[in-house]
Amino acid sequence: MGEHDTIVVAEFMPIQLRCEYLTNPLGIDVIRPRLSWALEATGRGRRQSAYHILVASSEQLLRAARGDLWDSGKVVGAASNHIVYGGRALRSSQRCWWSVRVWDEADTPSTYSNPAWWEMGLLHSRDWQGAWIGLDAASMATPDLQRAVAHAERPSPSEPSPFLRTTFTVKRLVQRARLYVTARGLYEIHLNGRRVGTTVLTPGWTDYNTRIQYQTYDIGDELREGENAIGALLGAGWFSGCVGFGAHNHWYGSVPQLLAQLSIDYADGTADTVVTDHSWRATVGPILTSDFLMGETYDARAELHGWDSADYDDTDWHLVAVTERNADMPHLVADRSEPVRVIDEVVPRGITQLDEDTQIVDLGQNIVGWARLRVSGEVGMRVRLRFGEMLTPHGALYTDNLRAARATDIYVLAGIGEDVFEPRFTFHGFRYVEVTGYPGPLPSDALTGCVVGSATPPTGTFECSSALVNQLQRNIVWSQRGNFLSIPTDCPQRDERLGWLGDAQIFARTACFNSDVAAFFSKWMDDVADGQSPEGAFPDIAPMLPIDVGQGVSVAAGTPAWGDAGIIVPWTLYQCYGDTRIIEQHYTAMSRWIAYIRAANPDHLWINRRGNDFGDWLALDGDMPSDLFKSATPRDLLATAYYTYDVHLMARMARAIGRHDDAVRYAAQFRDIKAAFIAAYVDHDGRVAGDTQTGYVLALYMKLIPDALRQAAASHLVHAIERRAWRLSTGFVGVGYLCLVLTETGHADVAYKLLLNETFPSWGCSIKHGATTMWERWDGWTAERGFQDPAMNSFNHYSLGSVGEWLYRYVAGIDVDPELPGYERIVIRPHPGVGLTHVRATYDSIRGRIESAWQIDGDALILQATIPANTTATVYLPTSDVATITEKGMPVREAEGVGTVRVEPGLAVVAVGSGTYTFHCAAPR
Ligand code: BGC
Repeated sequence: MGEHDTIVVAEFMPIQLRCEYLTNPLGIDVIRPRLSWALEATGRGRRQSAYHILVASSEQLLRAARGDLWDSGKVVGAASNHIVYGGRALRSSQRCWWSVRVWDEADTPSTYSNPAWWEMGLLHSRDWQGAWIGLDAASMATPDLQRAVAHAERPSPSEPSPFLRTTFTVKRLVQRARLYVTARGLYEIHLNGRRVGTTVLTPGWTDYNTRIQYQTYDIGDELREGENAIGALLGAGWFSGCVGFGAHNHWYGSVPQLLAQLSIDYADGTADTVVTDHSWRATVGPILTSDFLMGETYDARAELHGWDSADYDDTDWHLVAVTERNADMPHLVADRSEPVRVIDEVVPRGITQLDEDTQIVDLGQNIVGWARLRVSGEVGMRVRLRFGEMLTPHGALYTDNLRAARATDIYVLAGIGEDVFEPRFTFHGFRYVEVTGYPGPLPSDALTGCVVGSATPPTGTFECSSALVNQLQRNIVWSQRGNFLSIPTDCPQRDERLGWLGDAQIFARTACFNSDVAAFFSKWMDDVADGQSPEGAFPDIAPMLPIDVGQGVSVAAGTPAWGDAGIIVPWTLYQCYGDTRIIEQHYTAMSRWIAYIRAANPDHLWINRRGNDFGDWLALDGDMPSDLFKSATPRDLLATAYYTYDVHLMARMARAIGRHDDAVRYAAQFRDIKAAFIAAYVDHDGRVAGDTQTGYVLALYMKLIPDALRQAAASHLVHAIERRAWRLSTGFVGVGYLCLVLTETGHADVAYKLLLNETFPSWGCSIKHGATTMWERWDGWTAERGFQDPAMNSFNHYSLGSVGEWLYRYVAGIDVDPELPGYERIVIRPHPGVGLTHVRATYDSIRGRIESAWQIDGDALILQATIPANTTATVYLPTSDVATITEKGMPVREAEGVGTVRVEPGLAVVAVGSGTYTFHCAAPR
């Protein structure tokens, strides 16, 4: 019996093996990938005391417990995340099988885990042998193109989608085959009559001038001996389609192109490669136009039946235009995060006949994606779908807030049986679909909402006794799902859909609770770094694009609370996942950002070089004529607070990666800026300049108030809320920390008041008016005014949903101990408050499931906490009378798994090991 089969102890096992945050990733280009696992264990206080990793070049070797690539030996310690592969150098396309066993606290070994693997992609530019190919408009002498264009009602400036194909011969028995694909534009790849894979909108968005992602597919089972065919459709997407304000297209290029490489290994040890080159042929087919903002037009009469099969006759197809690759072209990089997929489906809640020819479908949920439509009708019949988030008072589709996005899909029927339509290269943000030209009343199952987004695994749940708050949590999650689509976007519906850094930084911590976004944000940080200016300014949007907000195209960079995402997002990933490589990777860029601010502001206040200076975007406390710039929080104050915060986080990150001199230097810089901040903005009575909610929130959250004045400043904050009849006035920037600060300064009651408020402005207000996603503005729609200015009024914007962080960390009380990040030491510290009687949250951390659930039962508080194996937790109970605390009926000090118990004013602080605990104590009054 091999070592693998030895059953020693079943109740302490490594599970959920992951490499670079992904489960069995196919085609990565991290030379020294990091390995992680969680532990399954029964009982309490379970710890890993050692691990042993094996990495093998085949599954057989691994099963025989032979790590020919790497055998870590027994490594003493509790490390179970981000273990850097330390074996032999890996080559392109190499498959690595791995397994790990662990020893528990009593030094008892587990069996080896189930095998996992990762596979390397193409590591060198020279590995790519093909060329970029696309439609050669000149060679399409036949009127195909003109015919296609003439057919189309052209809601879009895009050209018809090219179809490309070639055939090849598989000569012998195939052992394995990999297909590496990318596009300048979007691609959908086919093999032998079938689509390959289930991902959509590939290769995703990056700065295509700098780097382009490729995807890897395992197609070993799809090939057959003899003739095979490979084909692709291309779309404009982010590359050449309309993106951003004013629906400009052709940001990166004007003609989509494909790059693909098929590597075949035969069983006899020989190999073959098929690449994109002159042998391919091209034409146009049924996709007459396709564009993210404008929509897609599909004429089923022009379908190319069998185009992706070997026996298809392509003699009337055309030569392709070929662009050889050269050294000046952008890097090809392996896709490093979860792909975009159809992640859910939604069925209509109601269908209304608006007039003879128009029906409105209500999905009951604002989603991002598209509609799948089933329809039978006569040849040439046209069905038009338009998409919107809201209805007008007359029940018609409201599209004013889409600005230049036309969000229109058109289907022309082939008339043979039932047609099923689903677009390829567009997406919309919508709850309602206006259907025109459908033959007869739409059956309820004829239209399905396909939810499209990055398939980041859900990790969090939050549920409580308030229906309003539960809906708020759902709305936050839906806005995250909809706007985490390849990159974190501001909104999914209008002519914008950009990766605004301000939105991302304020929402990042909330996002980390709802889903595993480690890989997603790691990839996006590459986009942020790509957009950094030569002077060191982080961009306002990433991937970086020039923007046109009506005054001509300009580059947006270096704005306070936006550019700072370049520091805050790596910090957040470090806190939530214990990731230090993200710090190392971006350390220089982060240092340059701080130097950029410092160079222009020798007196420490961030007065100069503030880019677009958005301030507390969409706050409600100013009296400026423009709605957008209503914030009364002084902008230099806001900017300086963020600058101080950056420097503070840099000091901590420098320490985390062992750069102690830098840590000392940044700590000194922090003190200097803090002193300047206090001198400039903080009065002797704790009042902060501007006297706005956001001013207090930032100063308190970012530790910029002298200790002796903290309570006074917090009281001023409470008064600023009270003055507004207990309502908030914060914009994007202040809202994220508002409830956190109130709770930290002993005013959780005020935070709860804000949470449960239903009158304008509040989270509850939008919910009362039927919101199913987060709105961009507090007053997106009000009973008095109706819709806000359609020039900027999205109903799916996650920024104001940053309150989710507070729900998890302080209401449910699941938090990370910053000294041992990545949930190595967990903090369980709920803050029960008036208005809620129970709360339950779960979080699948990188170390396993954490749970915190509390309920008020008469005078008692019952807290149930689950702590994963190989972690510890500090549990805070809201009473200092330790004698009254029990755990599963036992006095707390005597309970199994409980370590020290100390008392702080009004609190008992209990140290526990892993396991599930049920504490009883007196409820807070
Ligand atoms: C976007 C925001 C963004 C802002 C910059 C808006 O158009 O939708 O979410 O952060 O511009 O202030």
